[in-house]
Amino acid sequence: MRNGGRNVVKTSFLTYNELNYMNTKIKMKAIIFCLCFACALPLGAQTNLLPNGEIWSDENGVHINAHGGGILFHDGRYYWFGEHKIEGTAGNLAHVGVHCYSSSDLRNWTDEGIALHVSDNPESDIARGRCILERPKVIYNAQTKKFVMWFHLEVGGNYQSARSGVAVADCVTGPYQFLRSMRINEGFWPMNVAGHLKELLRPDEVEYIAELRLTGGFHPDYPRDMVFRRDFIGGQMARDMTLFVDDDGKAYHIYSSEENGTLHIAELADDYLSHSGAFVRIFPGRFHEAPAIFKKDGKYFLFASGCTGWAPNAARLATAERIMGEWTELGNPCRGSKEECETTFRAQSTFVLKVHDKDEWIFMADRWCPNNAIDGRYVWIPIRFDAAGTPYLTLEENEPGE
Ligand code: DGJ
Repeated sequence: MRNGGRNVVKTSFLTYNELNYMNTKIKMKAIIFCLCFACALPLGAQTNLLPNGEIWSDENGVHINAHGGGILFHDGRYYWFGEHKIEGTAGNLAHVGVHCYSSSDLRNWTDEGIALHVSDNPESDIARGRCILERPKVIYNAQTKKFVMWFHLEVGGNYQSARSGVAVADCVTGPYQFLRSMRINEGFWPMNVAGHLKELLRPDEVEYIAELRLTGGFHPDYPRDMVFRRDFIGGQMARDMTLFVDDDGKAYHIYSSEENGTLHIAELADDYLSHSGAFVRIFPGRFHEAPAIFKKDGKYFLFASGCTGWAPNAARLATAERIMGEWTELGNPCRGSKEECETTFRAQSTFVLKVHDKDEWIFMADRWCPNNAIDGRYVWIPIRFDAAGTPYLTLEENEPGE
């Protein structure tokens, strides 16, 4: 049965007596099967996740409302932050804010309420019903002891402003105080571009870009080395985003920039409340959205999607030895049917969760429902690793029989 919530995998071995009763040929086959099966599994039982694509209810029986979300593990609990959506297409604008849920086991969720409320002041950047507030992520700053939330913010509600919002709280569940919204790293050049590209655009070049009418989707004439130069003044665009705190406590904001054509990885300041000015461009002209990053055995891995609006597309995977690159694309990490691979199991990445105290990571994704935003569903897949240590995504072992 698909999405049957069967993410618990049990390894079974035959006993010595059972083996003795088999003839040699069958015995050999059984041993090979058991060895292969055991090698394909991570050590220990996997975390028991909720059934993909079904209604995930909180402790009150209400569908969890935390879309485009991310999870912070703090003081023994998981805190899931995501976009609170309302019914209908209106739900694609922010009417409520960022919802928070908590859990000790990633299966039973307590409603912790709205962590960040939109504002009733129509002049506010986060005015109720007038802005788009997407993909909130929260990190904890051990030095300041503050919880810091960043999110993608479209002030006009029409995907034109490509800003980032930041909010801060003393308590993990909030209330978060909205500080400001901004374009990113105004007046800083990317660290990984050649000197001759560190030049402002001429007015005719700015006009040329405007005439291309870049809409955030793939464009065959995408001017791959121009948009960041246009935005040197005014700051870099940032849409789909995630946050990552490295082992040394440095935090990074990873976002779709330059009209969605190019990803940026930007270092945050020590208090995580602004950017340090250090940033790199990666995969210019490849149109990545939905970045979700993790680190395993000293290597960085980045999942992302292509840019097809709310419709799902094929996931992409990349890796790097250092967070600021060089990054290398590894292709589509999905294994399954053609449809599953081409649509990332009908979902789009939002975050990778490291399971506490386990050598286990979970790929978190959204199955968007733009015509009735509140009905968006969640797809969480335990990440598997091949013999070379490359991550991949499959539902197969979780859902036998299909
Ligand atoms: C895809 C993005 O990943 C979503 O967060 C949202 O911005 C939609 N595009 C809007 O079309």
